[in-house]
Amino acid sequence: MGMSQLEAERAIVSPDEAFSVFDFERVARDALPPAHWGYLATGVDGDVTLRANRDGFNKFPIRARRLVDVKTVDTSVTVLGTPWETPIVLAPVGSQRAFHADGEIAAARGAKSAGHLQILSTMTTASVEDVIDARGAPVWYQLYPTASWEVAKGLLSRAERAGCPAVVLTVDLPVISHRETAQRFARLDSRDCSVCHEDGPTYFRLRSKPMFDGLDTQELADLDAPSLTWDFIRRLRDHTEMKVLIKGIVTRDDASLAVEHGADGLIVSNHGGRAEESGLSTIESLPEIVAAVRGRIPILVDSGFRRGTDIFKALALGANAVAVGRPYIWGLASFGEEGVAMVLTILRRELELAMRLAGATSIQGIDSSFVRPSR
Ligand SMILES: Cc1cc2nc3c(=O)[nH]c(=O)nc-3n(C[C@H](O)[C@H](O)[C@H](O)COP(=O)(O)O)c2cc1C
Repeated sequence: MGMSQLEAERAIVSPDEAFSVFDFERVARDALPPAHWGYLATGVDGDVTLRANRDGFNKFPIRARRLVDVKTVDTSVTVLGTPWETPIVLAPVGSQRAFHADGEIAAARGAKSAGHLQILSTMTTASVEDVIDARGAPVWYQLYPTASWEVAKGLLSRAERAGCPAVVLTVDLPVISHRETAQRFARLDSRDCSVCHEDGPTYFRLRSKPMFDGLDTQELADLDAPSLTWDFIRRLRDHTEMKVLIKGIVTRDDASLAVEHGADGLIVSNHGGRAEESGLSTIESLPEIVAAVRGRIPILVDSGFRRGTDIFKALALGANAVAVGRPYIWGLASFGEEGVAMVLTILRRELELAMRLAGATSIQGIDSSFVRPSR
């Protein structure tokens, strides 16, 4: 490799040097301890679904239109009655202080700069009150209900009191999946994990998770909820005034059931390739779900979105908004708040450019004629 090639591939040293979100991935990988990098990067088993999420976008080429006046484009959307400047959303990612000392607070400040919707994980390392304060606006709250209804009710009431207008129930991890890559990286990490991680029973491990403060977690054997079924959606609806969205839907069958059970919205997601090793990308799941929902409730989608063109394709296939997980965490791990803000800026810029170059001037106008269907 010649010197110029090496120089061209060097890591960026400030956010404004970045050409794409992948510049932040490189810096994050170098900055994070191996175990934390592994936790972020991992899929499950052989990481087949993780890769499928990226490859899926190639199956939907863009059909660009010409001679459209694209001097101004409008990227605003309305989701559940609330207007947003951009359809790009921060997906819930747990334990963000594993990536930067300011964790979810830095993510909130980064999201604030251009008014992005942020979804806060149950496993947040900052409280929902502090995150809303830093974001300067309500966030949505993601719920892992645990096997205890008392604990779930405690989490819900706290989120509702803090001002969250919506709760996102994640349903793709009835049991914890096999994160093989994470385990391989953890084995490379020579640091003493017990300095930060409390070992022992579940309620011990939850001490660093402020949403569980004051809740009776002594009886929880673990955090998963393997017995959860569709009845839980009604139970949630009856218990809270917040809008209820279901995250982790990947089939038309479940999309229809979600509507029947009164869900206010869906997030098409395979947890970024971290749940079942299906080999199916979410962009390929999206069309059948859009067809089943028939516009009755909004549809968000995540898993593998890295480029404005990826977002454009999902909008064309009928998604109302698109969430990203790892990309903003790469920004967070690299440069904190400024890194998050720049990752989001790059994605917004790329989406606007994709719209202009394809001849679309509003999100509403990006219909299915802008992609060639998968064959
Ligand atoms: C490190 C990490 C932690 C995550 N934690 C949660 C979580 O606590 N709750 C949840 O619903 N999803 C969680 N997710 C899944 C994300 O919400 C989202 O579905 C996924 O990251 C999207 O894929 P992407 O990372 O390829 O953008 C997590 C993902 C990652 C990478």
